Amino acid sequence: MCGIIGFTGYKPAQDILLDGLQRLEYRGYDSAGIAFFKDNSGHVSVRKTAGKVNDLRAICDEENTSSTGIGHTRWATHGGVTNANAHPHKFGEVTLIHNGIIENYHELIEKYDLKGKLKSDTDTEVAAAVISCNYSGDPVSAIRAAVSELKGSFAFCILFKNHPGEIYAVRNVSPMVATHTDDHGSFIASDLTAFIEYSNSYFVVPEYHIMTMTDGGIKLEDMEGNDVAPQYMTVDWDVSTAQKGGYPHFMIKEIHEQPQALSDTMGPRIKDLLPDFEEDGIPDSLFEGVKDITVIACGTAMYAGNVGRTLIQNKFGIPVTIAIASEFRYERPTISSDTLVIVCSQSGETIDTLEALRLAGKYTDRTLAVVNVKGSSIARESNYVLYTHAGPEIAVASTKAYSVQVAAMYLIGCKLGLVLGRATEAEVREFISGLKNIPSLIEEVLKMEERIKGLANRMVNTKDAFYIGRGLDYTLSMEGALKLKEISYIHSEAYAAGELKHGTISLITDGTPVIAIATQQNVYSKVISNIREVKARGAYVLLISKDKEITDETVCDEHISIPDISDELTIFESIIILQILAYYTSVGKGIDPDQPRNLAKSVTVE
Ligand code: F6R
Repeated sequence: MCGIIGFTGYKPAQDILLDGLQRLEYRGYDSAGIAFFKDNSGHVSVRKTAGKVNDLRAICDEENTSSTGIGHTRWATHGGVTNANAHPHKFGEVTLIHNGIIENYHELIEKYDLKGKLKSDTDTEVAAAVISCNYSGDPVSAIRAAVSELKGSFAFCILFKNHPGEIYAVRNVSPMVATHTDDHGSFIASDLTAFIEYSNSYFVVPEYHIMTMTDGGIKLEDMEGNDVAPQYMTVDWDVSTAQKGGYPHFMIKEIHEQPQALSDTMGPRIKDLLPDFEEDGIPDSLFEGVKDITVIACGTAMYAGNVGRTLIQNKFGIPVTIAIASEFRYERPTISSDTLVIVCSQSGETIDTLEALRLAGKYTDRTLAVVNVKGSSIARESNYVLYTHAGPEIAVASTKAYSVQVAAMYLIGCKLGLVLGRATEAEVREFISGLKNIPSLIEEVLKMEERIKGLANRMVNTKDAFYIGRGLDYTLSMEGALKLKEISYIHSEAYAAGELKHGTISLITDGTPVIAIATQQNVYSKVISNIREVKARGAYVLLISKDKEITDETVCDEHISIPDISDELTIFESIIILQILAYYTSVGKGIDPDQPRNLAKSVTVE
C-alpha cells in the first residue's frame, strides 16, 4: 500500500525516481508525485498528480539536474483521489512522503492548532506539520520529537528546506529498505524492486531508527542517537526479474514462471526424496510434540494455507485450523505451546498477518513463516522462516506465490508426518517423487493457454460465475473465484459442490458459468452428480478433470483434461487453468490485470 522511493547520489534523480515508482505501482496507483531540490539548491520543488506514474511523467520537467529526490505512488486511505491529496506533502520547511496511517491525526490537528492551515485531507500532511512544528534547524531532533507523538504505522522519507543532498527517513511497521553504492549513491524504497537495477544488496531499515542519507553514505541511529550498523543482505535476482520480459503483463509472465518458482522452492528442501529444512535452520524439534496447527494468512495466501490444511489433516491426521488474520486478532485464541503456527505471506508485510503473528507469539514459540520476501517483517518476527523462492511477484493478483506456498505447506506436512510418526519414509518418498514432477507437468498445462484464452471469451460478458468442487478441489475453487473477481470484476463465488443445493443453486439460471473441478477420485461421482444438477438448471459448465474425454452433454459444455497424477497433486495443474482463465477474461474486458481497480499489493493497512 503506497510505494515510496528516495535517491541521493551522483546522477540526476528524476528518472531513478520515476522508474522506481513504476516498479512500485503494484502497491497503489491512485496518484503519484516527486519532490526534489531544484537545481541542487536548498529549495524543494514538488510535482504531483492524481493518476498513475505515467501521468506524473507527463508533468515532470524534461531537464531536471537534481540529484536528490523522493517519490510516491498512492493507495488512498485518508482523503479522496485528488491532486491535493497526492504526496509529497509540504508544510513549512518539511516535505515528506508516507506509507501507512497516522491514527491520532485528529488529536494532532487540535494540539498543533492546524485547522485551516492544511491544504489536503490527508493524515500525512498532519505528520509533515508536526515535524515542521518541532523543527528549529536540526532535522534529526525534529523527527525524533514528532515520531514520539505519532500513533499508527508509517514509513517516511523527508526533505528539509536548506538541507540539499540530504534525505531523512524513519519507519514504524510500514516496510522500507535501503542501500548505498559507491558508484551511484544512496537509495531507499518500500521494497528492493524499486532500485534492484543499481544494487541487489540492501538492508531493512529497522523500526524507530532515524536515517540520514547523502550521496556519500547512510547514517543510521536509534532514538537515543547511538549509531547502528545496517545489516546488509543480498538477493540472487536482478532487474530482468522485475521486468515484463516480453510478456504483455506481469501476471501472465508470473503464471509462466511457476515451474521455475516451484523448482527453486522445493529443490533445496528435498534430500533423498525426504523433506529437509536444515539449510533453513529449522530443526526437527520444532515439529516434535506438535498437537495441532493454526495457519494464519489473508487472501490468496490464506487459500494456499487452506489447501495445506486439507492435505495435512487428511493425509497425516493432524488437526489444522485456518485463521483469517484480520479475524484471528479479535477472537479468543485456542492455540497452546504445542500448536505450530504457520504464517503464510508473499510480501511478509501484510499488517493483519503480522499483528496476528505477534499475538500468536504470546501463546507459542513454534511460529513458522512461509514468506517470499527476504528480510520482511513477518520473516523477521517469526521464530523460523521457510522462504519461498518465487522471485518478485509484481502483478497485484498473486499467482506464482500461491503455488509455492502450497508446495511449502506440503513439504511442512511431510516433515510433520515423519516427525510425528504419521507416515513412513516410504510413503513420504512416494508423495515427494510426485511433487518433484510437478514443474514439468505444469509446463504441459501451460501449453493449453490458447484453448483457455478461447474459453475466456465466453466469460467476458457474464455477471456471475460459480466455482465448485469437493475436498482439495473445493479449496482450489476459492482461489479460482478470487482470481476471477479481483481482476475481471465479475462476481464469482466458490462453493463446496455438495453445498449448492442448500441455497445457492437458486442463482443458477440459463447460461450461468459454473467452473467445476473434479479431480478427487473419492468424491468424483458425487461431484459429477452435483454438476448434473446445475446443468439441468441451464448452467454453462466448464469442467476440469483427469478424464481423457467427456462426451456426455449432460455433464459439461467444455472439458479440460489435465495430466493424470495423484489426487493430492492435481491442484498444481488446475490452478494454472484457473489463473489463465481469469487473466484472459480480464484482458478481454479491457482491464489491466496487473492493476485492477481499488486494489494494491502488500496490504499494510488494517
Ligand atoms: C490476491 C492477493 C491477495 C494477497 C493477500 C495477502 O491475488 O494477492 O489476496 O494474497 O493480500 O498478501 P500477502 O501474501 O503478501 O500476505
